[in-house]
Amino acid sequence: MKYKPFTLPEHILLGSATASLQIEGSDKKNSWYNWAINGGTKDGSNPIIADDHWNRVEEDVTLMQDLNLKIYRMSLEWSRIEPGEGEFDETAILHYKDEILKLKEAGIKPFVTLHHFSNPMWLENIGGWSNKEAIYYFRRFTEYVLKYLGSEVEWWCTINEPNIYLTQGYFYGDWPPGKKGDIKGFLKSAKNMITAHIACYKTIHKYRKKAGFTETLVGAAHHLRVMNPKTKSLTDKFSSWLSDRLFHKIFTEGMTKGKKLLPLGFGRFDEEYDSYSDFVGMNYYTRDIISFSFSPKNMFTKVEVRNSAEINDLGWEIYPKGLFKIAKDCYERYGKPIIVTENGTCDRNDDFRAKYIYNHLKELRNLEDHNIPVLAYCHWTLLDNFEWAEGYEARFGLYEVNYNTQERILRESGRFYGEICKMQQVTAEMIKEFL
Ligand code: BGC
Repeated sequence: MKYKPFTLPEHILLGSATASLQIEGSDKKNSWYNWAINGGTKDGSNPIIADDHWNRVEEDVTLMQDLNLKIYRMSLEWSRIEPGEGEFDETAILHYKDEILKLKEAGIKPFVTLHHFSNPMWLENIGGWSNKEAIYYFRRFTEYVLKYLGSEVEWWCTINEPNIYLTQGYFYGDWPPGKKGDIKGFLKSAKNMITAHIACYKTIHKYRKKAGFTETLVGAAHHLRVMNPKTKSLTDKFSSWLSDRLFHKIFTEGMTKGKKLLPLGFGRFDEEYDSYSDFVGMNYYTRDIISFSFSPKNMFTKVEVRNSAEINDLGWEIYPKGLFKIAKDCYERYGKPIIVTENGTCDRNDDFRAKYIYNHLKELRNLEDHNIPVLAYCHWTLLDNFEWAEGYEARFGLYEVNYNTQERILRESGRFYGEICKMQQVTAEMIKEFL
């Protein structure tokens, strides 16, 4: 038999992840709405309705309960909470508090992200993260959030995928702020985001400690890819090393150890602690094949998908073993437990998602067998949603969404995942039914 039953340890919380901008709708004060209405998405769409989650929190928490989720990673939309610089909207933060209380009542652990790709327009208009002031503003926002949610939330993620956010925004220019080829902007913003992460790490811990809470975990969600050199040539190896340095290591070393790597500089970002992450959050999706390119504009790198690889609807290679490899590497490097903050695939017809889930969860089991601690797995994603510049075409949801009616329809792979969350195992019966 190709598929075998397996059990996951009880302590690994199985759940799902979303981001506010991608599901909530009805906010116009953020950088993504502005980007989309100015032609920034491939299908001409924008996130003004999305999944209308802002008005459907109760219904969506029930959907999570139906899937037996133990954890839900969600993000807060900064522009709702602070629509103008220094102007805070209490109704917005109370709305989030209510959502968090609903999750807890449903037995689902809330795991809150403070920044997931979108900025309030007032910040975007003064240079976004390339402006050093963003560090101060982000910390002030965090302090405000803590006043309302600080006693309710134990697990925090400061920033989601600074590497993707900055590569898309300052290198390719396909995302806001659309600064194609602005390497200086990329590096400046990277420094500011890492510094802001460190500031928030300290702020959250100090707040929770003072309030008498001992169970606090703070970290970031890193987008980590397997990067294989195309050949054994020194040049291909050099390009892989360079991509790994600029795309992964400057962020993971900075946000985990506080270490400043070139080209960001030397020394440390901060001296107060040895570590600024209590876990390594990994968003794992795919592998890249890297070769040398003569173009400095492309950072001397050509990125390809392996020939004859299995791919998803967006053409990304499906490579489950990468989850194990990356988690192992992070654990050896940083000695912190792993949280799979995202993992999932876009499969409009639900042809291969069940297999994808099986194969990736199997790697969690493998990590456990190698004594690599994993705290949670958050499947990306609960509902089909606004997939940034791709618009609504890419379908990552356990639930399919009909955008004409907002009806949520559980996919077969979603049913499979729900069973796994319930049983904490894949049984022979499930294999027969879903694979
Ligand atoms: C992001 C999500 C996104 C997902 C699928 C991650 O890079 O954090 O917001 O939807 O990948 O592309």
